[in-house]
Amino acid sequence: MPTLTFHGHSCFELEHGGKRLVIDPFLSANPKADIGPAKLGRLDAVLITHGHADHLGDAVQLAKKHGATIVAPYELAMYCGDRGVENVHSMHIGGSHEFPFGHVKMVVAIHGGMVEGEASASGRYTTSPCGYVVTMGGKTVYHTGDTALTMDMQLLQGRVDVMCLPIGDNFTMGIEDAVRAVEFVKPKVAIPMHFGTFPVIEADPMAFKTQVGTRAEVVVLQPGASYGF
Ligand code: NI
Ligand code: MN
Repeated sequence: MPTLTFHGHSCFELEHGGKRLVIDPFLSANPKADIGPAKLGRLDAVLITHGHADHLGDAVQLAKKHGATIVAPYELAMYCGDRGVENVHSMHIGGSHEFPFGHVKMVVAIHGGMVEGEASASGRYTTSPCGYVVTMGGKTVYHTGDTALTMDMQLLQGRVDVMCLPIGDNFTMGIEDAVRAVEFVKPKVAIPMHFGTFPVIEADPMAFKTQVGTRAEVVVLQPGASYGF
């Protein structure tokens, strides 16, 4: 049974059969994270949806510490390689790959992707943001990354067990569009993310749950909580 653990904002840890990956590990600079990066168990992989600081977070340091593979869109993967990460696996939108820990498909997200800080001056690391469809133990998780509602989501209809999606509005979908995203994908379970970390993305996850109604089971995870499926 795969287990998904929420660590605040858009950070999820996914574990199955002794393998563990983390998506968007924004921990040390996240006031709402339940743990710092040092508390994560041994990682096989670190998946990054885009270069914004609230997603790239501690990815480079974690990959170095654990010898974990960074999985990211090509340009962002190159950035991590230039920062000294040994195991970097670049992908791009529409591609998939079978890793020792599971199957990963990179899918469309409508958003920005620039890496902040020194890399941004050259523009070298401006990149396409993405979402991930990860299959482990026969179960499929769709982490949308930061995105608008997009028609492309319909391509995943009926293929997703658990969908993690933003509801915080302003930078991403708000509740109204997130409900439509659930209609598009028809996951068994929807888990809201990317809300409440900063004042501008305050949103009520219970209002999302109410509006989704019977379309899917909405599981609201507090940072530190896990969901097995
Ligand atoms: Ni972003
Ligand atoms: Mn974000």
